[in-house]
Amino acid sequence: MQPLLFNLESDPSLFAELAEELDAELGALEQRTFPDGETYLRIHSDCQDRLVIVLCNLYHPDDKWLKLLFLSDTVRDLGAQKVALITPYLPYMRQDKRFNEGECVTSRPFAKQLSGMVDLLITMDPHLHRYHSLDEIYSIPSKVVAAAPLIAQWIRTQVQSPLLIGPDSESEQWVSQVASLADAPFQVLEKTRFGDRDVSVSAPQLAAYQTHTPVLVDDIISSGHTMLETISHLQQAGLPRAVCIGVHGIFAGEAYAQLSAVADVVTTQCIAHQSNRISVAQALAAGLNALIHETT
Ligand code: R5P
Repeated sequence: MQPLLFNLESDPSLFAELAEELDAELGALEQRTFPDGETYLRIHSDCQDRLVIVLCNLYHPDDKWLKLLFLSDTVRDLGAQKVALITPYLPYMRQDKRFNEGECVTSRPFAKQLSGMVDLLITMDPHLHRYHSLDEIYSIPSKVVAAAPLIAQWIRTQVQSPLLIGPDSESEQWVSQVASLADAPFQVLEKTRFGDRDVSVSAPQLAAYQTHTPVLVDDIISSGHTMLETISHLQQAGLPRAVCIGVHGIFAGEAYAQLSAVADVVTTQCIAHQSNRISVAQALAAGLNALIHETT
């Protein structure tokens, strides 16, 4: 039986591509908001004994959380065999420890609740820093789809003489893999964070790379300050205009305007944005198919 694919508040073009890749029937979902702000949700598709896939991209998660709960609960109540969530961006991964007394380590309760809401989880390059695997906090089977091969392919065809730069130690896992696949040199810098928009990044060693195109690679671009700080070193050293590649372009506030003024900004399709140049639908669909195969 064809799987049923619902789009909950997520990119329609990614949804259409996923439907084709997964050969899925499009789920019919009726939603509206009552005058008091509460949500009405009704499913018009037959869910009985079917794999139900929900594309709900959980950036800005607080706005989508209840709707995902209502949808997943309802499809289960209507007889779905399994509910698989595709969220290209997995939120609440960066608070992975109690940095200050009394803080909520949000990654943990978020993972605990989401593990109760769906049966399978597919995402792309979540921010794994102090956690080494999603299994440390998620109790459901999950599949992490890597953006590195897609980014490397883009660099190979679009950038001449790239020098890859990871702005902090966490980025090494992505930048080293991209560098190996793109057959390019790379450096990883040290970042110190003083506040949400206040970071310092160590200077790269650029003497041997004066004619290379610097390509910054990071998983998340949020305020853009990590990238901006790194670019200031490159500008001081007189390198050509940089390319900034983010797997997840969140671009809070003025981040995109500030960054695109000083660099070419490229993101994957994980979060819909004008900077999207790297498609992810095929890789996400393959990840879901592999996870289904592994868990049946
Ligand atoms: C965290 O370490 C991530 O890998 C990114 O470097 C970080 O989220 C980027 O944030 P921002 O754009 O606000 O500097």
